[in-house]
Amino acid sequence: MEVIIQPSQETASVLAARMIAKVIRSKPEAVLGLATGSTPLGLYRELIRMYREEALDFSAVTTFNLDEYVGLGPSHPASYHRFMHENLFSQINVRPELTHIPDGLAPDVPASCEEYEAKIRDAGGIDIQILGIGSDGHIGFNEPISSLASRTRIKTLTPRTRADNARYFDSPDDVPHHVITMGIGSIMDAREVLLLGFGAGKADALAAAIEGPVSAQVPASVLQLHPKAHVLLDEGSASKLQRSEYYRYVYDNKPVWQLVS
Ligand code: GLP
Repeated sequence: MEVIIQPSQETASVLAARMIAKVIRSKPEAVLGLATGSTPLGLYRELIRMYREEALDFSAVTTFNLDEYVGLGPSHPASYHRFMHENLFSQINVRPELTHIPDGLAPDVPASCEEYEAKIRDAGGIDIQILGIGSDGHIGFNEPISSLASRTRIKTLTPRTRADNARYFDSPDDVPHHVITMGIGSIMDAREVLLLGFGAGKADALAAAIEGPVSAQVPASVLQLHPKAHVLLDEGSASKLQRSEYYRYVYDNKPVWQLVS
């Protein structure tokens, strides 16, 4: 696990975008795993800027999103379909038919989850997966005690996650209880993982994920077992780490050939 502490959310988001751009430039038909929430917004803004100003080309890129609320259609203002359309897809040259998001209205949820897994496999697997983290340590919508081997499936949100996400809905009661999420096993299959976490509100979850034991109680801790996982933090989210000086030292002394420019 590489832990990179940046001075701000903005600088971390720009660095994350450069890491994604590096993957796309070396493999134009790259498969990206995408996340929603407030955390990746700066990263998406930077990717849009790179598309407009630096000719970053998404025309051959395939995307798979982590999750969607059960019961919300693509036009619902709080759906992740709508989020992705507004915050990224409508502003870059990605081909709509190459973007994938779990279907919140699927009549047969287990069958649609199996299909989603098959589509990821058929696309050749995910080259780089973007992740945020829930205040309870979830990744995607894999809440605590999710199987660390889980695949795409239906999950029940914790009351805490429903409360955290209530800001996107007219009323807290409107937050669905159920979601479809890629599993932890599905996420671990990605060839590279980029976990972003910003602000003091994520500091406890990140300290547990990075420095605590690998445990289904803190789903993000499984990334300690991933061969190529980067964690990008700002000062607030890094504030509870015991070894932050070491992480800074490692990054400051990184061999030049490893740096993303
Ligand atoms: C939701 C998403 C997660 C995201 C988390 C954090 O629960 N399913 O993928 O990481 O929220 O959200 P935010 O980035 O808004 O803090």
